Amino acid sequence: MLKIMKEQKFEFLFEEYNSIDELNEHDKQLLNEARSATQQAYAPYSNFHVGAAAKLINGKIITGSNQENASFPVGICAERVLLGSSASLYPEVAIETMAVSYQNKNAKSDHPISPCGMCRQALQEFEGRMKKPIRLILGGMEGKVFVIDSASSLLPLAFTNEELE
Ligand code: THU
Repeated sequence: MLKIMKEQKFEFLFEEYNSIDELNEHDKQLLNEARSATQQAYAPYSNFHVGAAAKLINGKIITGSNQENASFPVGICAERVLLGSSASLYPEVAIETMAVSYQNKNAKSDHPISPCGMCRQALQEFEGRMKKPIRLILGGMEGKVFVIDSASSLLPLAFTNEELE
């Protein structure tokens, strides 16, 4: 039988470092800002304190942290808190790099975590809106660090605002 189906493949490259010590000074500083931002998290329900720190193209550094609520779905992730702050404080200014870290009060925080699906969607649209990829640095309080060139790589076949035009 004639095969008309085409197999498609999605892949992307990212960097893996053994620890924060292997990063350049700028990236190290940003990941440390994200680690510190975990202290501003309000996470009494999950005990999972997330911090994000971003360097904007105007050189400013801003942070965000997860803010939970007794009505659980009301809680918002550190990444989206940061995106909202960024667009409010500095409209039209793109984010160059965002670092995300966490402190799990019930377990080790020794490996990178990756943004949740909802945050991937928000990151993807922020990139499109500002016409610049957001570089991600993902790492815990210790251990390996991942660096990803563009947040959109984490959301293949994304639904985008282009569909609504
Ligand atoms: N959370 C974030 O803030 N960012 C992530 O990348 C993963 C999850 C938050 C949501 C919730 O407050 C807690 O972590 C546990 O899921």
